[in-house]
Amino acid sequence: MAQLWGGRFTKETDRNVYLFNASISFDKRLYRQDIEGSIAHAVMLEKQGILTEEEKDAIVKGLSTIRSRLEEGSLEISDEYEDIHSFVESTLTKMIGDAGKKLHTGRSRNDQVALDMKMYVRGEIIEIDNLLKEFQKILLKIMEENLETYMPGFTHMQKAQPVTLAHHMGAYFEMLRRDRSRLQDIYERLNICPLGAGALAGTTYPLDRGYTASLLGFESPTLNSMDSVSDRDYVIELLSALSTIMMHLSRFSEEIIIWNSNEYGFVEIDDAYSTGSSIMPQKKNPDIAELVRGKTGRVYGALMGMLTTMKGLPLAYNKDMQEDKEGSFDAIDTTKECLLMFMQMMDTMKFRKDVMARSAAKGFTNATDAADYLVKRGVPFRDAHGIIGQLVLSCIEKGKSIDEMTLEELKSISEVFDADIYDAVSLKTCVEKRLTTGAPGISAMRGVIAEYRKYLKD
Ligand code: ARG
Repeated sequence: MAQLWGGRFTKETDRNVYLFNASISFDKRLYRQDIEGSIAHAVMLEKQGILTEEEKDAIVKGLSTIRSRLEEGSLEISDEYEDIHSFVESTLTKMIGDAGKKLHTGRSRNDQVALDMKMYVRGEIIEIDNLLKEFQKILLKIMEENLETYMPGFTHMQKAQPVTLAHHMGAYFEMLRRDRSRLQDIYERLNICPLGAGALAGTTYPLDRGYTASLLGFESPTLNSMDSVSDRDYVIELLSALSTIMMHLSRFSEEIIIWNSNEYGFVEIDDAYSTGSSIMPQKKNPDIAELVRGKTGRVYGALMGMLTTMKGLPLAYNKDMQEDKEGSFDAIDTTKECLLMFMQMMDTMKFRKDVMARSAAKGFTNATDAADYLVKRGVPFRDAHGIIGQLVLSCIEKGKSIDEMTLEELKSISEVFDADIYDAVSLKTCVEKRLTTGAPGISAMRGVIAEYRKYLKD
């Protein structure tokens, strides 16, 4: 048991209490942030005349050595320490002697842990954003290759109107664009430095908080010391953004699972990204997509957990807040892994364009266009809707699609039909005539793709 306190205690902490209280087993992943923050603190203390230059040099050198030894594996973080802060300070003091004991001047673990968590979240936001960007590149490539890959678009899981695979992928590109902009917002809001808030009420030492903030890449110092040590909004905001990313991935997974089913057969998942059955030799299962869909639950769970942990906390720091870590670490790891797996699966997936096009041609996806054909010939839309309804009924009875009906059969439903109806309701026309911004028509899509390319470059 190694802890930074104990002077006012007459008994040793109960072993189980010690273990219950300790966070080292999970906050050890914050060692880089803890060391970087400590170096900045020491540099500022010296600038302010609180440490001598020799003390500062010894501290900075010692901390840098600890960091490189941890990185190369010649030093290990042992669970005998209460938390990562205790480990770093005690190891430093063992290494450089008394100067190490001065590092914590004008600092509390409360502002220290808030700083570490903020720096950690900041770094993870950048990593997750990079993953989202890589995923967008893969989607854009699929889009560019499939501007004329026709497929049915659905509402209520019923075939509605034909679209293209490029258009369908573009919907996910948009979702990821919003995900990235949410992360950016969170980054900007959190990038204010809590270091120097002390335990809750600042400190009597003449700290230069603006200086440490700028050394650590923050915009400025926080303006209320009580809020600084008790704010975990940024963790909640990140978990909320991750939950939304996972919700998007989960919807995407659901579609891939459906498209990969025997009944649809729109896609074939690469052998390297699917799994088999121990009993049924014919099976090739979409396990990645199913796992991503399933893991969405634990990320939502982390968000709910954190909101609930924070809801009753009086100001300022309370130990409850130590619970911000395990759930958010798990949610971050899970989201990153899901993004990576899912994008690789997409990158290697085959699209069965013929099956998609055949499916789009069936199911009366051109019924709206048939009605529009009549409208262009002077029939009021509501009447046209009724006429095409009758036509669809007659097609179903005959087991034909609209374009398989003879002109005679069509004319028996409405005299307005003419030979040009066939071109007007062809799959190609139905897609290519949809040219409003954001629609699947090829030239509309090309404009959007040009914007996406520019966006990915910026
Ligand atoms: N392990 C603690 C946490 O994660 C560090 C802060 C401890 N502060 C305290 N006064 N006990 O929140």
